[in-house]
Amino acid sequence: MKHKIAVITSALFMAITMTACGASEPASASSVADSDKAAVQEKLNKQDSNTETTDEKTEDTSAESEVVSEAVTDAAPSENEPASDGNNILVAYFSRADENYNVGTIEKGNTQIVAEYIANEVGADSFHIETVTPYPADYDDCCDVAKQELADKARPEIQGGVENMEQYDIVFLGYPIWWGDMPMAVYTFMDSYDFSDKVVIPFNTHEGSGESGTYSAIASYMPNAQVLDGMAIQGKTAQEFSSDTQQSVRDWLDGLGF
Ligand SMILES: Cc1cc2nc3c(=O)[nH]c(=O)nc-3n(C[C@H](O)[C@H](O)[C@H](O)COP(=O)(O)O)c2cc1C
Repeated sequence: MKHKIAVITSALFMAITMTACGASEPASASSVADSDKAAVQEKLNKQDSNTETTDEKTEDTSAESEVVSEAVTDAAPSENEPASDGNNILVAYFSRADENYNVGTIEKGNTQIVAEYIANEVGADSFHIETVTPYPADYDDCCDVAKQELADKARPEIQGGVENMEQYDIVFLGYPIWWGDMPMAVYTFMDSYDFSDKVVIPFNTHEGSGESGTYSAIASYMPNAQVLDGMAIQGKTAQEFSSDTQQSVRDWLDGLGF
């Protein structure tokens, strides 16, 4: 228990008040900047014109869509099929089930819940960032592994991949805060693709740290992408208060013009 508290109150986020335990906390979806909305609109317009072009194509298109379906190796929400019309929005997320802080043992990770809401709302394809070596199911053990990986700046290997990343103009990137940072596998993911000219929209769950500076860290890590302000939601809220969470996601996406 002492160890658990130590994780959540680590020096990395001592500045943040820990008010989260046991309470439903609204998402910190702040007002969306006009420039962020404009960036999304530009990419959505591109999708519209691509769809029109795709509609004009013949058999070639169905061959392409099979590739799209295979390229995203994790099932999208409700096992929905990736869009067959050259969908240009991807939701890529890291999320871990099993034992976690403040929620007990869970079947679906907090971030995955948010990721699925987003993918359903915008009709995106999904990719679950999972490491080849799974993290321990035990919370304390997982904290130890994660802490070591952070210290080592590890780049744990990811299962599968997004083979057709070039088709996506908008990438939502989701993750939990681990030790005041992203899980190192998210860095592996960022290292794996060229995000140039893509709009990258972060979102995260946490238990008190908020976004913990990760949005600007992502922007620095991929300087050729247009990284927007993201949305942070308390993990327990995502896990236990689904209608609040869905509403927060919807409001945020509305603000972005989806
Ligand atoms: C290894 C580890 C480290 C964590 N470090 C932090 C942290 O620094 N700040 C924080 O607010 N929450 C921290 N948490 C809590 C998670 O961010 C939170 O439970 C999140 O919602 C988990 O998302 P997931 O279920 O999608 O993996 C940590 C959890 C784990 C397992």
